[in-house]
Amino acid sequence: MYNHEVTSDVISTFRIRLFDMICALSTALDLLDPALGSHQKRTCLIAAQIARNMALDDNDYQDVFGAAIFHDIGAIGLHDRLAMLDFEEHDAHTHARLGGLLLSRFPGFNRYAPLVHCHHVQWNYGEGAQHEGKAVPLMSHLIYLADRIEVLAQGQDNILGAAPEIVEQICDASGRKFHPLFVEAFSKTAQQESFWLDIFSKNLDRILMDLAPFDNIDLDLEQMLQFAQFFALVIDSRSHFTATHSAGVAITAETIARNLGMSAQECTKMRMAGYLHDLGKLAVPNEYIERQGILEEKEMARVRSHSYLTLDILSMIKGLEDVTEWAACHHERLDGSGYPYHRTSTELSLGARIMAVADVYTALTEDRPYRSGMRPSEVLAMLDELKDQGKLDPIVVNTLKENLPSIEAARIRAQSQEGLDLIEFWQLATKSLQ
Ligand SMILES: [Fe+2]
Ligand SMILES: [Fe+2]
Ligand SMILES: [Fe+2]
Repeated sequence: MYNHEVTSDVISTFRIRLFDMICALSTALDLLDPALGSHQKRTCLIAAQIARNMALDDNDYQDVFGAAIFHDIGAIGLHDRLAMLDFEEHDAHTHARLGGLLLSRFPGFNRYAPLVHCHHVQWNYGEGAQHEGKAVPLMSHLIYLADRIEVLAQGQDNILGAAPEIVEQICDASGRKFHPLFVEAFSKTAQQESFWLDIFSKNLDRILMDLAPFDNIDLDLEQMLQFAQFFALVIDSRSHFTATHSAGVAITAETIARNLGMSAQECTKMRMAGYLHDLGKLAVPNEYIERQGILEEKEMARVRSHSYLTLDILSMIKGLEDVTEWAACHHERLDGSGYPYHRTSTELSLGARIMAVADVYTALTEDRPYRSGMRPSEVLAMLDELKDQGKLDPIVVNTLKENLPSIEAARIRAQSQEGLDLIEFWQLATKSLQ
């Protein structure tokens, strides 16, 4: 019926490289503002090159690399993304504190939380060894320096020509803004033309991969699921209208998959696809998501790009091909009227069909700025209509209908839990910002 083989969990292996995941997260975060370009990855590259010239120990090197690559993660949902680049004018510690808080909630990243928390602390002739009554990790000062070098390098069309002036500006602030130890290492590193040219290389990801300390660390299925859940928290924390959408789609897709007889590993992967399906929405302005009225044609076109961007980012992660396809095809329809590929029934896998139904079902139950969430009977009528129009898969829709009480209960539980997590996060965040 479907081009779908149930794989054995015993023989199938699942391995994802940690570097691929981290690189994908950093790329996704940079979607939030086109003006940021690849700010985080370039900052990471600069910090890693300077660190390599200092012969740091492995622990410090990993801290620098891991914290630098998503040091601005706390700017998510904030209106001051540009302000963090223009930090002299604004309180740059706001996004740094939020970033530290966000990372501390995820076991895979919590070692980077203190470094991110302090990444805008100036050295101030030694006073910057402490911040808010606590010791500042030394490596935070290297990330701060790399961040400022990246901002000075941004937009330069002749970086080798501009380099001496950048070096001069940084050296002038040695001791005052920057830790002299790192400025000294930077002065040496800056003599290599390759250091500057690498910053603007089209092969930034490959260069970073060569420098990455966790080159050979793999994630198993469970760890990857935790990463996907963390991604969902980041995606959903932008708007209260979609605050728990990814968690709802994830549990719905997983439960339908189980009822359709997919293997345990595939069910977990369906959940992962649910957490990740709207990753590309990070490139959609929040104002569009929160708009009370109908979006204009051009604005809708921008929104429609999101599932392609989900694919673009997830395809950076080797070994995640099936999850990527399921996640990216959630707006495809069996009659070819979906997007971005206009695939038809012969081209859509069972996973993609499940994602489409799980996404529509979850979205209809949720409040939107322009309407309240629908009651279960209205949701079912709408799903039937889409099924009858040849857009949604009849077997998947029927499976959802037959198991509606348990699916509805699981969805409400998952979304309530995610909602509580987000409320707790924002309460902590508000407290830490006071
Ligand atoms: Fe920052
Ligand atoms: Fe930054
Ligand atoms: Fe979507």
